[in-house]
Formats: sequence, structure tokens, C-alpha cells
Amino acid sequence: MKTINLDIQHALFFAEKQYEALEASSVEALTTLEKHTGAGNDFLGWLDLPKETTSELVARINATAKRLQENCDYVVCVGIGGSFLGAKAVNTALADNFEYYYAPNPNEPKVLYAGQNISEDYISELEKLLTGKRFGIIVISKSGTTTEPAIAFRILKEKLENEAGKDAAKDLIVAITDEKKGALRTLADQEGYETYIIPDNVGGRFSVLTPVGLLPIAVAGHDIQKLLDGAANMAQTVEHPSPENPAQTYARMRNALYQSGKKIEILVNFEPKLHYFAEWWKQLYGESEGKDGKGIFPASVDFTTDLHSMGQWIQDGERTIFETVLSVAKPAVERRVPSDEANLDGINYLAGKRVDEVNKMAELGTQMAHVEGGVPNMRIELDRLDEYTLGQLIYFFEFACGVSGYMLGVNPFNQPGVEAYKKNMFKLLKKPGYEA
Ligand code: PA5
Repeated sequence: MKTINLDIQHALFFAEKQYEALEASSVEALTTLEKHTGAGNDFLGWLDLPKETTSELVARINATAKRLQENCDYVVCVGIGGSFLGAKAVNTALADNFEYYYAPNPNEPKVLYAGQNISEDYISELEKLLTGKRFGIIVISKSGTTTEPAIAFRILKEKLENEAGKDAAKDLIVAITDEKKGALRTLADQEGYETYIIPDNVGGRFSVLTPVGLLPIAVAGHDIQKLLDGAANMAQTVEHPSPENPAQTYARMRNALYQSGKKIEILVNFEPKLHYFAEWWKQLYGESEGKDGKGIFPASVDFTTDLHSMGQWIQDGERTIFETVLSVAKPAVERRVPSDEANLDGINYLAGKRVDEVNKMAELGTQMAHVEGGVPNMRIELDRLDEYTLGQLIYFFEFACGVSGYMLGVNPFNQPGVEAYKKNMFKLLKKPGYEA
């Protein structure tokens, strides 16, 4: 079932020559990815996750989720980067915008996040919220040695043990980490936590369809099988090179734009639930392509909100940007603009129209203005926000990222630059072994 559509017509004419010239390169990159013959080919496990995730694993994840749902009002996911953003993206896209203003219902815990920053206020205020509450922890770290989640987990584990007792706490903590190595693996084995494995051949930013994303998404009450089914459907759609292949087309178009001087890609949404999807996408493309002095800078905006802040720059600033718009065709509910006798605000001309119709006209008007202003525009239409569609979109972007990185001539599956700040921080904090 096709539920996402890519339209490049408003980007093509900005870089038509480059796009034509890149056909062979896009076919070669896609073939390299599919045949596992390129750089970083030991990190391609994500390609097969949709079809290789067994029904046994899905059932086990759902059973763990049910246990946490039954025993917790809050479940804190502790992790950062690829061990945070995928779950946050999907859970935000599928949640009610105001879910955190409602009290938790029985068997419907609120999923919270920690370890994605080192803010003393953040962790202290989270502790305050959790005081006296039934809570559990999913601690996620592939390396098992990342500082941010290690600090948050140490604090939250201590709190849970103090409040629930060490024995009960053990059953309320689930660790997702490497099969054998890392401090978190050692700790989880010693303490007897339930654990899930992050496959060796799946990098953090490609791990949302492993237990890293699947468990927190299941705990939030979403159907992870549908997410995997959507991804499997997209895997079939993109596996062969073809002018109709949407992932190949997206990768080819963005490289053509890059070659024509468009160095920044802005992922645009008109639906606030997609804010964190853009954060996930930024890590995916930023860490995959930003290396060797190359790479499109991935940015994002939430429209129409940011049209009132960033709109001026996008319309009139330096012409080095292009936009990729995520447009959701069908909102979940229907609401129309009411009529008002006094009409003091002058919007009676909108009375009776759906709020979404106004949003769609804002989108179209923005596209016309930006294209006119020299900003190429690609548009990805999603039928609706549900698990299946998000599964498709995740796999689409992951696959296109691999193709695009190979076209750019980088290894899209390593991240040597992520280590630089850590070395300095460890030195400043006098971590043993880093004093020199
Ligand atoms: O993509 C990456 O590898 C990083 O962004 C990691 O996801 C992030 O640093 C978290 O790493 P870990 O899961 O090992 O704690």
C-alpha cells in the first residue's frame, strides 16, 4: 500500500542539468548499498530489519511493554542521539499534542526521556515529578559507555531503588545495549535486568526499528508490527534502481541541488507532531553526510509557526537553501472555522472551511513564494500520521540517506566527528586515561 508520495517538480528546474548528469551515479550508489559493496558495509544490518525482525521478538517486546504499562505511570527512556531520537520522533508523531497535560491512565504510562542532555535542572525536575510515583526505566546505550545517559541512569536508578526497593526496581528496569561489551551490559547482567540487544551491524541513527525504538514505542501504546510492515513495504519499493524509485530520486535531487550551490536542506512540516521527526532526520543526515569537508547541512522548521520568525530569511536571505516539505494529507479529526456575527477579526471569509484547508493553502502559498524567491522545493506527502506511514517514511529516509551518502563520496555509516567533544570533556573532567 502506497501512503507516501515524493514530488520534485518544484526543485528540478533549479538543477536540471545536474540531476540528469547524476542518473548513473544514483544507480551505482543504490546498487552499492544493496550489494553491500561500499564503505561502512559492516553497518548495513538496518536494511533487513523490517523483514528479519521475528514475530517472537515483536511478541517479547510487546510483553515487556505490557509489564511496564501495568506497573508504571511513568516510563523514563534514558538515551541520547540514535538511542533517543527515533522513539521520541515516532511517539511524538503519534501522540495527542497535549498528552502531557493529562494525568496517566491505568496501563497507559507517560513515556518521558532523560539522558539526552546534562542539565542539572532537567534531571532534578524530572526527579521531582517522579517522587512518590510508580515509574520504570528503559536505559538505552549501544556502546554502554555514553556519559549523558550514564549520569541520568545512575540518578534515576538510585531513586527507583530508594523508593521501590532494590528487588522491585530490578523488574522495573530494562536495558537495551550491546550483546557482550560495554559498562551497561556488565551492569545489566550483574543486576539481573531484562535486556534487549542492539545488533552490532546497526549504527545508532539507524536503530529505530530495533528494540531501541520499538520498546519505547510499544510502551507508548503504538503498534510496532504496523511500523515494521510499513518499513517492509518501503524496502520493497526502493530496492531496485529505477527513475520511479522515490529514495533514489530524493538522493539524486538533493545531490544535484548541492552541486548547484544549495548547501542547506530545510525539512519543513506544517504539523507540530512532526517536530521530533525532523530532529531524528537531522541526526540521520547530519551524522551520515557531514564529513571529509562535505555534506548538506540539515536544518528544520515548524510552519506556519516559524514563518513568523524564519520566513524572512528563507524568502530573502542567502540563496543556499532548499526545502523538503513533509505534508500530511489527512488530519486525524475534523474542525471547521466558526462564523462570527461581528466578524471583528475579519475572517468570516474562512467560516465553514476546515482548519486543515487553511493550513494546506498556507503550505501552497508558501511553496509558491519560496520557489519564486529561489528556494527549490521538494514535497513528500504522507497520507496520514499512523504507524504504517511512519514506518514507510523512516525506511525511505534511511535508504535514501545511504544512497545519497555514497553519491556524495563519503562513508555514510561512520561518525568519527562525534568523538571530538567527548575527548575534550573527558580531559577537562580528568577522566582516568584522558589527563594528558
Ligand atoms: O549515531 C551515533 O552513533 C550517536 O549519535 C549515538 O547514537 C549516541 O552517541 C548514543 O550512543 P550510545 O547508544 O552508544 O550511548
